[in-house]
Amino acid sequence: MKLILMGPPGAGKGTQGEILEKKLGISTISTGLMLRTAIKEQTEVGKIAETYINAGKLVPDDVIVAVVKERLSQPDCEKGFILDGFPRTTAQAEALDTAGVEIDKVLLLEVDDEKIVERLSSRRECSKCGVPYNIIFKKPLKEGICDSCGGELITRKDDVPETIQNRLNVYHEQTEPIRKYYEAKGILAVAKGEEELADTTANVMKALGIEA
Ligand code: AP5
Repeated sequence: MKLILMGPPGAGKGTQGEILEKKLGISTISTGLMLRTAIKEQTEVGKIAETYINAGKLVPDDVIVAVVKERLSQPDCEKGFILDGFPRTTAQAEALDTAGVEIDKVLLLEVDDEKIVERLSSRRECSKCGVPYNIIFKKPLKEGICDSCGGELITRKDDVPETIQNRLNVYHEQTEPIRKYYEAKGILAVAKGEEELADTTANVMKALGIEA
């Protein structure tokens, strides 16, 4: 299965990607996570990406396309993969086609903007190991402390109100048009992502025709 997960920031792409990865036994490739790691390590890509991500803007197409192409050439992708957060522009979708990557399904998770703001304002992650939490929906056992490694929980730099709004604007302007691109190819599946986690997961499995 070669799958694309798309949807607004905070729709639950990362959360569903993790579930699908276990279910299907294929790797999830999160461009957001790859870029955040590159920033931590201050690689060339990280240095370019930092200002864009912190402002809630998209990293330039040529930069992210090169990162994804390199990742897809790795052996674990031969049996399939889940792309989380790529493509985000029509140019990125076309770059996948030009590279000869044949996608089986594109899953669009639909969540309205109000819910997104609530989810992202309450998201936290471990400063040490990166495990995600949510102070409303997925609380740690001890407030502010990671259950896995004891690290301090922090707010992602792009999860502040003004940047969340920028990310939503960018999504509506630059990423939503891809819906039509994949609809025309007949590979778009849509799932409601607003319900609680178990119900959203059931919606996703149903939309993809995967047994729960
Ligand atoms: P990225 O990391 O991909 O961010 P995003 O798309 O904004 O998505 P998020 O990671 O914020 O949310 P998500 O949909 O994965 O939701 P999650 O599962 O965490 O990208 C970051 C930045 O990198 C971009 O802004 C851009 O600058 C750059 N970038 C990345 N890819 C790029 C590309 N292709 N081109 C150019 N630039 C690129 O869930 C969110 C919260 O909600 C969590 O707290 C979770 O616990 C909770 N939650 C999830 N599901 C539910 C549910 N059903 N009920 C209740 N709570 C839920």
